Amino acid sequence: MSPQLTEFFDFLRIPSVSTDSKHREDVRNCADWLVNKFTSMGLKPELHETPGHPVVIARNEPKPDRPTVMIYGHYDVQPVDPVDEWDTDPFEPTLKGDKIFCRGATDNKGQHFAHVLGVEETLKEHGDLPVNVIFLLEGEEEIGSPNLAPFLEQHREALACDICAVSDTGMIGPGIPTLTYGLRGIACLEFTIHGPSLDLHSGVYGGAVPNPATIVSRLIATLHDENEMVQIPDFYSSVKPLEDWEREMWASLPDGDAATIEETGVRGLLGEADYTALEQRWGRPTAEVNGVGGGYQGEGSKTVIPREAMAKLSFRLVPDQDPEEILRLASDHLRNHCPESCKIDVELGHHGPAYVMDPHSKYGQAAQRALESAFSEKPRLIREGGSIPIIQSVKDIIGVDTLLLGLALPDCQIHAPNENFTVSNFEAGIKLNRALLEELRN
Ligand code: BES
Ligand code: ZN
Repeated sequence: MSPQLTEFFDFLRIPSVSTDSKHREDVRNCADWLVNKFTSMGLKPELHETPGHPVVIARNEPKPDRPTVMIYGHYDVQPVDPVDEWDTDPFEPTLKGDKIFCRGATDNKGQHFAHVLGVEETLKEHGDLPVNVIFLLEGEEEIGSPNLAPFLEQHREALACDICAVSDTGMIGPGIPTLTYGLRGIACLEFTIHGPSLDLHSGVYGGAVPNPATIVSRLIATLHDENEMVQIPDFYSSVKPLEDWEREMWASLPDGDAATIEETGVRGLLGEADYTALEQRWGRPTAEVNGVGGGYQGEGSKTVIPREAMAKLSFRLVPDQDPEEILRLASDHLRNHCPESCKIDVELGHHGPAYVMDPHSKYGQAAQRALESAFSEKPRLIREGGSIPIIQSVKDIIGVDTLLLGLALPDCQIHAPNENFTVSNFEAGIKLNRALLEELRN
């Protein structure tokens, strides 16, 4: 195995699950590991404490006459649950054919580590980089980056740059370079319905008292109509329609409806009638149920009316929806539909707006040339359904756009069991970094 892969595997073995307090030390060890790596490359790393997990910054010696490129990534990973559905140990990187199976392999360790190694190669060969580079690696992306926007505010001057580059999105297929020029935003909430003051015998009281699990289900059912349109009043009022050029461009991509069925294993699609699967996934807002709880979940039956039940919702947002406004509309909607016989608590969660940039700008064109040189093929231009809320904060606070140069393949299984990254994309990522820094040179 190449020394680069051996090193990547060491990085992957650190179980840096940001959401789980049991892994707090592991997340820190991962940040320390990066600091050591940057030191060994001759960069100047800094580990910054935050109220949560640390931020790692590393830079080369800046020179005044060349552009500064910020490379963002996240070293935290999603939890491994359901762990029984992994074919291999989630934190023991396992190579099968071209694929490396491990939590974080694609999202996002493999993708940003390829940039780190690209920089290392260039430094070894030339002793310098064509541009000033600032790596910004955080440990809280998977929990909504609660401390990163304040960090950007505090270090606005130190982080001043001309452009940001991120590999944390997808490619439309193996070998097809893809520039993502837009991301959906996100807004999360959780609501709990409180009914009786204690769990009740469902025979003794059923029928006369409200059942919180039923009420939660009813509230969830108010979210969509039979055409899958979200029914929260004013939900669509600031949605920017898709542009004709992008609908045309996406229509020329391989059949997205068929690919969506194939990748997800569903029997058929369900969605707004006038939009293709790609348009819905990349350019339309949604209301999703991410979790429902309440009542007996164990083996067999238990005749109970649970005293409370809950659901976790998230909304994917498009330009120009305002996440805080959407959370307000959604909370009002849920409260308005909760019967007086129950109490509802709505807890608002993390949120961030959608992001779009011009893929034909000077930097967008440089990114396209770099992708073409790494993959020997013309890049496709897409938007994506996932969210990286900090990207809009980089625009608002640092004042620069972000080039989203994704390396995730459709079957990489991010956030799911058997997450994997291909060795080919890992190597292409290293080439991509080298080409990108060269293209961004003055
Ligand atoms: N890498 C993903 C985002 C992503 C995935 C963008 C695929 C485009 C295509 C990122 O790590 C992620 O999972 N983001 C979360 C954001 C949230 C927790 C604030 C998401 O999209 O759910
Ligand atoms: Zn993720």
